[in-house]
Amino acid sequence: MATPHKSISRITTYTIRQMKKSEQKIAMLTAYDFSFAQLIDQAGIDIILVGDSASNVMAGHETTVPITLDQMIYHGASVVRAVKRALVVVDLPFGTYQTNTELAMQSAIRVMKETGAHAVKLEGGEYMASTILSLVQAGIPVMGHIGLTPQSIYQFGTYKTRASNETEAEQLMKDALALEAAGCFAIVVEKIPSALAQKLAASISIPLIGIGAGPYCDGQVLVMHDMLGIQTDFTPRFIRQYAQLQSVIIGAVQQYAADVKSQSFPNQSECY
Ligand code: KIV
Repeated sequence: MATPHKSISRITTYTIRQMKKSEQKIAMLTAYDFSFAQLIDQAGIDIILVGDSASNVMAGHETTVPITLDQMIYHGASVVRAVKRALVVVDLPFGTYQTNTELAMQSAIRVMKETGAHAVKLEGGEYMASTILSLVQAGIPVMGHIGLTPQSIYQFGTYKTRASNETEAEQLMKDALALEAAGCFAIVVEKIPSALAQKLAASISIPLIGIGAGPYCDGQVLVMHDMLGIQTDFTPRFIRQYAQLQSVIIGAVQQYAADVKSQSFPNQSECY
């Protein structure tokens, strides 16, 4: 299988913008720890997102709401230590940027200084534009996130597809344009109709990276634990499983436990 952009030594926000211009699709995955981030980076992924989905897959919370800035910084720094090539983006968690620009600035600066990440991601449309503008003016690259924004799940009350009616679709177009004008270098769009994502991608000059938003986006993002089949309880149709690691891991652990109990582990060559 071809590895994308093996020749580029370090992916930057500039590279990501250029990839849209040259019509090369952007591959993005989440990671939350050193070991997996190292593997994903070696595989040639373009962007590693230290997503606040860590709240679900790392900490076992039902939503992304509870994760804290300190916890995101811990995950972000672990990932940055592993990565040599990919662009690393860290999510600003719920409650650390929505109330005012000063808070957003403090949170984003902490992420940039304490993790060594290359950019932050935050959720929200038009109403976040002035905050994004301030962060960008301060030299902090920002990735937007619109559509189904999981930090607002209690407001939505459902994980159903967003913007399937005209009013919401029109608002989403305004959101994408406002985020571009505010200086975002890319936008994630989650769980919207594929035809609308196609329109959005064609209307903005920065990359639109989709999750559950169809094939016409400039790139795709998935949660690593979903696509590797580690986490199998969450099965929306937009997830493609590229491995079934859950059964591999359970099988290996069962074999290890059986070997310990039958005293076949350790054997002579495994002793000092
Ligand atoms: O936190 C996350 O994993 C995300 C992706 C779903 C885009 O924001």
